[in-house]
Amino acid sequence: MVDETSVNDAPGTQSGLEQGSADRSPDRWDLAVIGLGYVGLPLAQAAAGAGLRVIGLDLIQSLVDGLNAGRSHVDDLSNADIATMLAQGFVATTDETVLAHSRTVVICVPTPLDDDNRPDLGAVTGAGRTISRNLRPGTLVVLESTTWPGTTEEVLRPILEESGLVAGQDFQLAYSPERIDPGNPTYGFRNTPKVVGGLTTHCRDRAAQFYGRMVEQVVPVNGLAEAEMAKLLENTYRHVNIALVNEMAMFCDELDIDLWEAIEAASTKPFGFQAFRPGPGVGGHCIPVDPNYLSHRVRRLGYPFRFVELAQEVNERMPAYVVARITRMLNNRARAVNGSTVLLLGVTYKADIADERETPALPLARRLRMLGANVCYADPYVADWTVSGKPVTRVVDVGQALADADITVLLQPHAAFDLAEVQSRAKLVLDTRGVLTDSDTVERL
Ligand SMILES: NC(=O)c1ccc[n+]([C@@H]2O[C@H](COP(=O)([O-])OP(=O)(O)OC[C@H]3O[C@@H](n4cnc5c(N)ncnc54)[C@H](O)[C@@H]3O)[C@@H](O)[C@H]2O)c1
Repeated sequence: MVDETSVNDAPGTQSGLEQGSADRSPDRWDLAVIGLGYVGLPLAQAAAGAGLRVIGLDLIQSLVDGLNAGRSHVDDLSNADIATMLAQGFVATTDETVLAHSRTVVICVPTPLDDDNRPDLGAVTGAGRTISRNLRPGTLVVLESTTWPGTTEEVLRPILEESGLVAGQDFQLAYSPERIDPGNPTYGFRNTPKVVGGLTTHCRDRAAQFYGRMVEQVVPVNGLAEAEMAKLLENTYRHVNIALVNEMAMFCDELDIDLWEAIEAASTKPFGFQAFRPGPGVGGHCIPVDPNYLSHRVRRLGYPFRFVELAQEVNERMPAYVVARITRMLNNRARAVNGSTVLLLGVTYKADIADERETPALPLARRLRMLGANVCYADPYVADWTVSGKPVTRVVDVGQALADADITVLLQPHAAFDLAEVQSRAKLVLDTRGVLTDSDTVERL
């Protein structure tokens, strides 16, 4: 068994890509992270902080150059964090041969959907082939990307075994889902328990020992598929419950019931209830995407995963519903959407982060434009925003824009926004997050 306890003798003594690539000793690196994005970089940070010698591999040269020059491109890490990692010996590279000199290799590449909404495992299989070309006996390979249960064993394992080495025997194979919540000030890498499943008990134990170096709690599970399923259960649970309150928001409006107040009241129950709140639609790389991975797997059994498909349908309807509410509010003021100026506040997928992936602001803006609205936006995190190939005007003076716009739609309550100003200065506001107070000019979703 490979001993995970041996660590960098002198953290901070290695730096520079040339040094990393030139040293061909088999155990030059304790960890190679493949994919230096929202998931890979925090892992590299935690491992470097725990004294491991860490190298990061990515396909994008400019991203690698930026990191080696101390520039962060993800919300949760500052440039100062990257500088600390570099001082601890972290190096980023596009040179795949470093994998042959790493005791553990962790895959953190994207798992998006293709144009037909089916799982696209291209990055995972690509990373697998990269490892396979460089795999040596004794390496621990861990997949962290979110994917359908069965992927590690059915898809990744055969690719890795093209190396001629056998999983569970010559090298260890494990799956450990990443649960990072970008922008969460309370739970980060270290204090979020890490679920780990292995191909064999030894694979699992080795992976558990590896993560035990950098997280407070490791949760070992018996199989790879159980670890894969745990992640999809978490995100499907969230997706379905958001859809539940979104659907409630639509009929509560017609019933003239204040759902926000009902949610606060229900939240006082100390057991058996977890509060979810409505919104303009779901976004980000996880919630709108991951449940599709599970329904894809279930469909191969010959039947649909109805909860997920229903949740998808409800959540995808939300931008159109928000447009319908905007239309009604303008109509009540004898105005049409056509020709009105609509100010969108916050166009990222969640508050206080810069990530725009799958943001519901996009279909919303597209629909408003189709109806002839003049759409503008304010977002401290988004300098340029293009919808259907056409730039959207960014307002600089938010206070003036609130007063000028026919209607303001609060999509993300970034901390930088002055909510009191939004409440008092805007002509009309649709608050999709329930953070303002209902009034003659303000309606909550
Ligand atoms: N972002 C999140 O909040 C989050 C949370 C939990 C889990 N996840 C999951 O983690 C995985 C990674 O997501 P992310 O948000 O970090 O993605 P990301 O797009 O931020 O970063 C992925 C990186 O991988 C690189 N890459 C792609 N293919 C590669 C290859 N073959 N070799 C080397 N590098 C390659 C890309 O260039 C990119 O820099 C996904 O499966 C995602 O579902 C994401």
